[in-house]
Amino acid sequence: MTQLITTQPILKGNIARSINPNGLKKYIRNQIEYVESKGEYNGPKKVLVLGASSSYGLAARITTAFGGGADTIGVSFERGPKNGNMLGSAGWYNNIYFRQFAEQHGLIATNFIGDAFSDQMKDDVINYIKTSFGGKIDLLVYSLASPKRIDPANPEKIYTSVIKPIDKAVTGYNLNLEKNEMVEQTIEPANQSEIDQTIKVMGGEDWERWIDFLKKADVLVDGFKTVIFSYIGSPLTYSFYHEGTLGVAKDDDDIHAKAIQSKLESLNGKATVIVNKAVTTKASLVIPIFPVYCIALYKVMTAKGTHETPIMHQDRTFRTMLYGKQPKWDEKGRLRPDSWELESDTQAQTKDLLQKITPDNFKTDLTAYRTFKTEFMNLNGFEVNDSISDQVDFDELVQLKP
Ligand code: NAI
Repeated sequence: MTQLITTQPILKGNIARSINPNGLKKYIRNQIEYVESKGEYNGPKKVLVLGASSSYGLAARITTAFGGGADTIGVSFERGPKNGNMLGSAGWYNNIYFRQFAEQHGLIATNFIGDAFSDQMKDDVINYIKTSFGGKIDLLVYSLASPKRIDPANPEKIYTSVIKPIDKAVTGYNLNLEKNEMVEQTIEPANQSEIDQTIKVMGGEDWERWIDFLKKADVLVDGFKTVIFSYIGSPLTYSFYHEGTLGVAKDDDDIHAKAIQSKLESLNGKATVIVNKAVTTKASLVIPIFPVYCIALYKVMTAKGTHETPIMHQDRTFRTMLYGKQPKWDEKGRLRPDSWELESDTQAQTKDLLQKITPDNFKTDLTAYRTFKTEFMNLNGFEVNDSISDQVDFDELVQLKP
């Protein structure tokens, strides 16, 4: 049976309500080709990626597989097609198409769909590593971005993360991609409970819990590495990010990195916080005010030739730093591929440009609004390439399994 659906972009504010699986397939292919164009490198061989279905986690999976020749396990929380016409989430198809391409390349690529915070998922993944993945892994990438976390010890308890400043309200402009508008917004400060809950969801506690489970199960090789993705960003965004709830949660990564490091000493292992660049992702689009910083930053970085998408950024990080010869460490032992974003002339020009951006001119070539919106549409399989069909066969898509 054939049931054709015509896909078209539907946005609700900065959240996409529709996808084009054909475009997603091409978008994955493009990312693989980018990595292949850079050649092979001596990377990890057995990789577990938590948050593997989109943006930074997916990019880490693609570079380790197609640059380093790694077999990969990906864990993510995604929705498949249902009810005869609901296509599901972009990440659902990213998992499927990544697996198909990896298998064509002779690599193992296994997807687990469900809650990475749960102990059940940890047990299921460990069982799979032991029975079907060669017994051990040499890299764990922690790239979850989630609005909530169920407490593993008490399923009744659900922590919710918020993106708010601390102590003082912040007012600034935000973008609305649905309406192509720039609107003023005030974010009220978080209370203590909101701060604590955001640390529970977006901090490093679950990262350390994964390490505890994996180590106890003896599935880590000697020389094992683990990384978590963090963000510090520019002083221009400190008031609502670095000094806000998310920033405090990111500081928590550093604390858990230290604890994990001591647990990995016996394995000659290494736990690393990687501080990444600001990029266009599902998660960054819901950070208030952040998108306006991005359209200024991207304009400046594009002119300098330093703007990167998630695949460009992760491929460079893995190939030249984590598994390469030019790592850039900071005084706290974190890896700093975000140094391009923070170059002083880049920041000075971004600051100048931000002062010139208004609701009347933000869509013009003064800024990188067009690039930003296209990158966002790409995440959902739109505007990837003119020749991509907007027609999909629902019954065919339902047959695809992660
Ligand atoms: P994203 O929203 O594109 O991806 C999040 C991933 O987490 C998806 O694969 C999703 O399925 C998975 N996920 C969410 N909840 C889950 C759950 N309960 N169980 C299993 N999987 C779950 O996010 P993005 O932007 O790639 O962020 C990844 C990490 O990178 C985050 O820690 C973020 O703070 C960090 N980062 C992001 C930057 C940005 O500009 N977007 C900059 C620097 C760091």
